Amino acid sequence: MNQQLINTVKSEFLKVFNSNPSLIFSPGRINLIGEHTDYNNGYVFPAAIDKGTVVAIAKSGLKNSTILALNTNNKFEFSINDIKPLENGSWQNYVLGVISEIQKTGEQLENFNLVFSGDIPIGAGLSSSASLENSVVFALNTVFNLGFSKKEMIFISQKAEHNFVGVKCGIMDQYASMFGQKDAAILLDCKSLEAKTVSLNLDDYSLLLINTNVKHSLAESAYNERRKACENVASKLGVNSLREATISDLQFHKENLSKTDYQKALYVVQENNRVLEAFEAISKNDIIKLGKLLFESHEGLKNQYEVSCEELDFLVGYAKKSNIAIGARMMGGGFGGCTINLIKTSGLEKFKNEVAKNYHHNFNNDCSFYNVKLSEGTRVI
Ligand code: GLA
Repeated sequence: MNQQLINTVKSEFLKVFNSNPSLIFSPGRINLIGEHTDYNNGYVFPAAIDKGTVVAIAKSGLKNSTILALNTNNKFEFSINDIKPLENGSWQNYVLGVISEIQKTGEQLENFNLVFSGDIPIGAGLSSSASLENSVVFALNTVFNLGFSKKEMIFISQKAEHNFVGVKCGIMDQYASMFGQKDAAILLDCKSLEAKTVSLNLDDYSLLLINTNVKHSLAESAYNERRKACENVASKLGVNSLREATISDLQFHKENLSKTDYQKALYVVQENNRVLEAFEAISKNDIIKLGKLLFESHEGLKNQYEVSCEELDFLVGYAKKSNIAIGARMMGGGFGGCTINLIKTSGLEKFKNEVAKNYHHNFNNDCSFYNVKLSEGTRVI
């Protein structure tokens, strides 16, 4: 965890509000494999990381609440009795959405002061949103003794995103951020919320994230469209979700489906299978197999699910050609953000140098590299 970040948030709170706050940290996440499967009740394989959001909070005892967003140096004042969404794209909606969802449960909140800051790059596909939502719900739960379980809190965060932010996200990000464990990834069944924690021993290989540093517009509407398309296919197949569908079900109904819907649904069914294969590969320490599955996942995301972009494809293509990388794919919602790569540790620096040079040459823009440390989930610090 970033001690400097914690110190900054705490000292800013003391300076501005002159009282002692509770401090909460909530991490971002990576996802080994299982993309766009969560809202289809399928499998995902995420892990919380050591980057995230730090919140300092205390009751205000006043008629107003004040929030300071340190990253953007923004101050926002409102009353707890008047919660409504702001304009699309406002950071406030993540916080207001959480408040509104808590109020919908019948719990009473009082006004409070909150300072937050984070070290997750925005738009990188590392779930800065879930990290913020979870940090806020956890903070309010702590300060007002609401007694919500972690499971209840992740659904509050998810509904905030649906209703105030407008993204009909699945549960992966909020789950991983809340329930993360040190040095481990989580195989999560998004239908039952049953989870298996797997300690990740990659032998001579390392995980490397490469940020394209682009986020193409329309990513959010495209996300919601994909979700709708999957739900339509499921209903045509007569199943609750694509989790219940098999490849032969899809082939049976192929005539009734548009070509693109068929491909998208096929991707989801195949990706669910890949997650289970990845779990098995990791259990057997077969890292080469895991790498292959990452490449296959990317092919599906690019050609069938159509959520990749030129920059992501370039990075994955580069990894495929290199004999230092054994697997790579885009990670998260898509249309920009990061790729996740499995790299021979001995060649890590060489690989980074080559990629940096070639990416710059191609796009006249720099990519960024992050080594990840798998970490514990949302907590009081
Ligand atoms: C975003 C969403 C998640 C998930 C991924 C794609 O991160 O918030 O719920 O659907 O995209 O796997």
